Amino acid sequence: MNKKMNIAIDGPAGAGKSTVAKLVAEQLDYLYIDTGAMYRTLTLAALREGIDLQDGGALTHILSQTTIHLQHEQTGVRVLLNNEDVTDAIRLKDVTSNVSLVSSHEGVRIEMVERQRRLAEKGEAVLDGRDIGTYVLPDAEVKVFLTASVEERARRRYEEQKEKGMPADLDQLKEEIAHRDQLDSTRVFAPLKKADDAVEIDSTTLSIPEVAEVIIGLAKERAR
Ligand code: CDP
Ligand code: CDP
Repeated sequence: MNKKMNIAIDGPAGAGKSTVAKLVAEQLDYLYIDTGAMYRTLTLAALREGIDLQDGGALTHILSQTTIHLQHEQTGVRVLLNNEDVTDAIRLKDVTSNVSLVSSHEGVRIEMVERQRRLAEKGEAVLDGRDIGTYVLPDAEVKVFLTASVEERARRRYEEQKEKGMPADLDQLKEEIAHRDQLDSTRVFAPLKKADDAVEIDSTTLSIPEVAEVIIGLAKERAR
């Protein structure tokens, strides 16, 4: 594909955004940008500093002092907080249960979005998140809104945790996911929402390669 385009993938938790985005980026030789990892990294930094997570000003200040780097390696993307590898730490429960609150603050979002736009400015990037098609890159050439039933999304997270040898409770995961979706969809500033021009893909009964194939098909169509 000659045309330099950006691909935006938004949707609720566990829909398969990051897995599919990684595969699409790999197949097109594009850069993968995990915007959720950026909000998770700030949440980790704030928890460590003991900052009041309701305090948007304090969070914005911490963010201005913080470097977040997505380092691409053969084995995957490593996430660096002020040069410390926090790839695993940002997936822990404490971060997951607080990240929606941290990312609801306007000042935090404005700074994050600026960083994300800079990462994507050369094109040939796949970004996944909640507000990519609606706010970060409203002119992205390909926009996808990826969904799946909440039962299936909880089941995926459950399998993931069991594979890692972590304790998992399906009902609790379902509740946590639904709660986070609710917070993300109802925040005032840049909520989770399908962009009018996004293509909705329900992945409930689709495999990862099947979803990736649909998205690559959309990109090829746009490149013509
Ligand atoms: O992978 P998972 O669905 O668990 O979430 P994530 O993509 O890592 O995002 C974690 C959280 O960051 C979301 O629940 C949102 O609160 C926030 N987020 C956001 O507000 N905007 C984005 N573009 C990406 C993530
Ligand atoms: O990024 P997001 O929270 O939307 O989801 P993810 O972390 O990419 O995917 C959650 C889990 O579901 C992963 O373990 C994927 O391997 C799995 N998955 C799946 O089984 N089938 C799909 N079509 C998509 C994802």
